[in-house]
Amino acid sequence: MRVVSGIQPTGDLHLGNLLGAILRWERMQHEAPCLFFLADLHSLSDHIDPAVRLANRREMAAALVASGIDTDKSILFAQSDVPAHAELCWILNGTARMGWLNRMTQWKDKAGKNREAASVALFDYPVLQAADILLYQATHVPVGEDQKQHIELTRDIAIKFNNDFDTELFTVPQPFIGGGTAARVMSLRDGTRKMSKSDPSDMSRINLTDSDDAIAQKIRKAKTDPEPLPDDPALLADRPEAKNLVGIMAAVTGRDEAALLADHAGQFGPFKAALADALVAMLHPLRDRLDELRKDEAAIDAILEKGAAKAADLAAPTLAGAYRAIGLKR
Ligand code: TYM
Repeated sequence: MRVVSGIQPTGDLHLGNLLGAILRWERMQHEAPCLFFLADLHSLSDHIDPAVRLANRREMAAALVASGIDTDKSILFAQSDVPAHAELCWILNGTARMGWLNRMTQWKDKAGKNREAASVALFDYPVLQAADILLYQATHVPVGEDQKQHIELTRDIAIKFNNDFDTELFTVPQPFIGGGTAARVMSLRDGTRKMSKSDPSDMSRINLTDSDDAIAQKIRKAKTDPEPLPDDPALLADRPEAKNLVGIMAAVTGRDEAALLADHAGQFGPFKAALADALVAMLHPLRDRLDELRKDEAAIDAILEKGAAKAADLAAPTLAGAYRAIGLKR
């Protein structure tokens, strides 16, 4: 078993990232060798000020350590510090098909109507993601539901490459979604859209850096419907906002939805107050640790440097194998 996963270092860590991915990364560290990385080459698909890009990278590395990524156990690094990612991406560009990439929902959503003006990086992004995973022979890729299609594409690329070049070079990875955490955390303003860094409304998400008061206010103002909370999870099916809040509470407290509803059926007010308390109890210590870590930029840089050296060593044999398979090296 080998675990690989990444996160784009754009802006702040939010509750969707934490519940959908990072808290499970934290748990998986105790079960298998893990590599976690900042997908900073992926951020090229958006135009970002270079100074901001650099600052975001440190901030996200600190946020991951604050959230429990133990750099003595796991390898934490930045994608751009390990050139093998970009090299393998180019090799896999020979395997990936335009038709496959055209079907990616993230591409369709982000490119919108004006595809002609979208960057090639945005289109090719899932191939780089495949390289990130295949380079390390990952068996498990812990991600939120929104990344499932990209992991399936990674599997298709691995299988086609292995077939085309008559090799067993690439391990075909499994997406690892859910497993006790929230696979899909939705916006606090619209229960049909995922919580996301790109939502213009900050009230739609809880950020790791939000103060306790901000967290409480966002939950108080979170959209709900006029009905009270039911006592049976099945009755949440057509109530996306209520379902989302109950799902968040379940993920944060580790309790199942039926038990939570047995305690909280009725008006939203007391439930929201309990949810805000649970979120503050989880996030406050993480935020304190992040404040500490931010004070020592050199320490964060050293963690990333050490991680990149280890990742590069692990990546080298697979990259060499890929060059050999396509006939560019002996
Ligand atoms: P990114 O940076 O958008 O998100 C990082 C992780 O957080 C999960 N996530 C969510 N989970 C549940 N509910 C949400 N609202 C929510 N929002 C985000 C994502 O599923 C992800 O697991 N393409 C990836 C980064 C990446 C990657 C990789 C991941 C690059 N290479 C290789 C795995 C393996 C991305 O943009 O994630």
